[in-house]
Amino acid sequence: MGINIVATGSYIPEQKLKNDDFRRFIDTNDEWIRTRTGITERPMAGWEPTWYMGAKASQQAIERAGIDPKDIGLIIASTVTSDFLTPSVSAVIQRETGAVNAAAFDLNAACSGFVYALDTARRFLETGCGKYILICATEALSRFVDFEDRTTCILFGDGAAAAIVEKSDKLFSSYIASDGRGAHYLCARSLNVAPEVKVESDFNDGFTDKPLHKLYQDGKEVYKFAVGALPKAFEGAAAGSGITAEDIDWFIPHQANVRIIETASKKLGVPMDKFIITLDHFGNTSSASIPLALNEAIEKGKVKRGQKLALIGFGAGLTYGGAIIEY
Ligand code: COA
Repeated sequence: MGINIVATGSYIPEQKLKNDDFRRFIDTNDEWIRTRTGITERPMAGWEPTWYMGAKASQQAIERAGIDPKDIGLIIASTVTSDFLTPSVSAVIQRETGAVNAAAFDLNAACSGFVYALDTARRFLETGCGKYILICATEALSRFVDFEDRTTCILFGDGAAAAIVEKSDKLFSSYIASDGRGAHYLCARSLNVAPEVKVESDFNDGFTDKPLHKLYQDGKEVYKFAVGALPKAFEGAAAGSGITAEDIDWFIPHQANVRIIETASKKLGVPMDKFIITLDHFGNTSSASIPLALNEAIEKGKVKRGQKLALIGFGAGLTYGGAIIEY
């Protein structure tokens, strides 16, 4: 059993931060950011909460699908930047969309979240959970990025994208994985302590020396992981499906750094023009990055019905995963 993406939607904050805008608070320049990452600007949530962006994207997907929100049996919200420890963002999206018959939970697989959610949705559809599932990836990384850390803050953007999915006999093959040995390479604390308090811990968890409440990454370790994870995500999803890289019309990778995508394209033997790239204007929006790219490619008429797509992601955890799907 596969799944059909009935419709997608998105919400992108109006406020944009261009590369040169960072010069106001860190020592950087447009040329460094563009050549090392491929990013030129990124949307920044101003007042918009994570749930708000997610609800807007979800409402658009529901409208485009032309469905009654009461027919949604499950809402899966993917986020690492929930507004609340509880309730879940998915519960607030339920309130805002009127999907009153749905179960709702959040999923945190960092930037691989949308792929994890597709994999999860397929399993729920198979065992039975109503007609449609709403998947919504919504992220406001700007809330906990350290704007004094020039190697990290320039990478991230904010936004949300959603998809309505249903059961189908179309092609679908997915693979999800994680390597927790690298958990401390990309992290942000949620401990409820004041930033000036140093966390002392008897537990050697690998996080005790990391800054509080801010996103920390070891860029080089994450980079090394990422260039291996993207091809593995595709190969894992393709295994047993009879699909090879040549069969894929569009690769839609996690949008972290264009150099990571270029390396994946070489490893997979797939030309760069088969990769959908949106990081130049969105930056890295964590789990929203793949569905934002998918939604934009559909809106621009690049991705068409019947085409085969490979959605491949990686992120904190360190998670990775792929989904091969016929649109
Ligand atoms: N502007 C100007 N100079 C900068 C800079 C910035 N924004 N950020 C770092 N630099 C400097 C460094 O201080 C360093 O200077 P030095 O040589 O004098 O010490 C130099 O540029 C090179 O830094 P380095 O860290 O080696 O750059 P890099 O080519 O490895 O690129 C990243 C850094 C973060 C862009 C890259 O490692 C990366 O993309 N990693 C993966 C991150 C990622 O994808 N995270 C999300 C995963 S979901």
